Amino acid sequence: MKPVRKAVFPVAGLGTRFLPATKAIPKEMLTVVDRPLIQYAVEEAREAGIEQMIFVTGRGKDALEDHFDIAYELEAVMKGRGKPLDALVGTRFPPGAIVSVRQQEPLGLGHAVWCAREIVGDEPFAVLLPDDLMVGRPGCLAQMVSAYDKVGGNIVCAQEVAPERTASYGIITPGSRDGRLTEVKGLVEKPKPEEAPSNLGVVGRYILQPEIMEVLANIGKGAGGEIQLTDGMAALIGRQPFHGVTFDGDRHDCGDKTGFVIANLALALRRDDVAPAVRAFLAEIEG
Ligand code: UTP
Repeated sequence: MKPVRKAVFPVAGLGTRFLPATKAIPKEMLTVVDRPLIQYAVEEAREAGIEQMIFVTGRGKDALEDHFDIAYELEAVMKGRGKPLDALVGTRFPPGAIVSVRQQEPLGLGHAVWCAREIVGDEPFAVLLPDDLMVGRPGCLAQMVSAYDKVGGNIVCAQEVAPERTASYGIITPGSRDGRLTEVKGLVEKPKPEEAPSNLGVVGRYILQPEIMEVLANIGKGAGGEIQLTDGMAALIGRQPFHGVTFDGDRHDCGDKTGFVIANLALALRRDDVAPAVRAFLAEIEG
């Protein structure tokens, strides 16, 4: 079984739910406490053993590449002033470890993943949607890689969603269950609650086999007129092993304003440098 060494980060979406913040900056550069969403996702991938990060970008997304580049001027000034560069550690990678490819038109998540096909090649790969901020130890992708090492095939991150919210997710038809692992028997993109096969939703982490690329090349537009990753994955069920892993940790949907505000609060409360002041503020406004 080939190891998972590459990860695709689809970051070409328009982020319309977060306007006006995302008019001139990418959604993935929105900051939770002191680092942009993309950095949390890249750190999670690195922890899971990923060696190459592939950004699928679009126009106006240059800041994402700049964030992981060497900032000569900034570093020279900081060194000159005797300031430590520790805060930049998570943004440094060897040449070639971060590459990007453009999705010229935002035709959907499935299309964005397909745009990375030449760089992915003939290997299993991970997909991380940075607006799903996953907090856990070990990280979400590391938990999924452990499951992959046992069962192989394709793996999605599964989460129970409120039954009335199925129309916001790809929903799983579950088969047999073994602890946190659920066999995936079917997948439907954004079903209405009355048509949903369960309330087990797919959230933004995947491990996929390279055969998905030829499937994505041939499926037409699905829900919302977009090329849907869910439809591509559904076509692999029955041909290859397919499982969902229920993540042991917290997910914050940072593509949504409320989720983003809660993420800032939740992560601030986990940080020794800011938690005491934030906790004191919360106590003050509650009292
Ligand atoms: P979303 O459904 O959250 O879309 O995409 P979006 O455009 O980012 O945000 P809204 O809904 O307009 O506010 C899920 C993920 O898929 C990527 C997005 O960047 C995000 O990571 N995506 C989506 C692409 O890369 N290309 C696409 O054509 C569509």
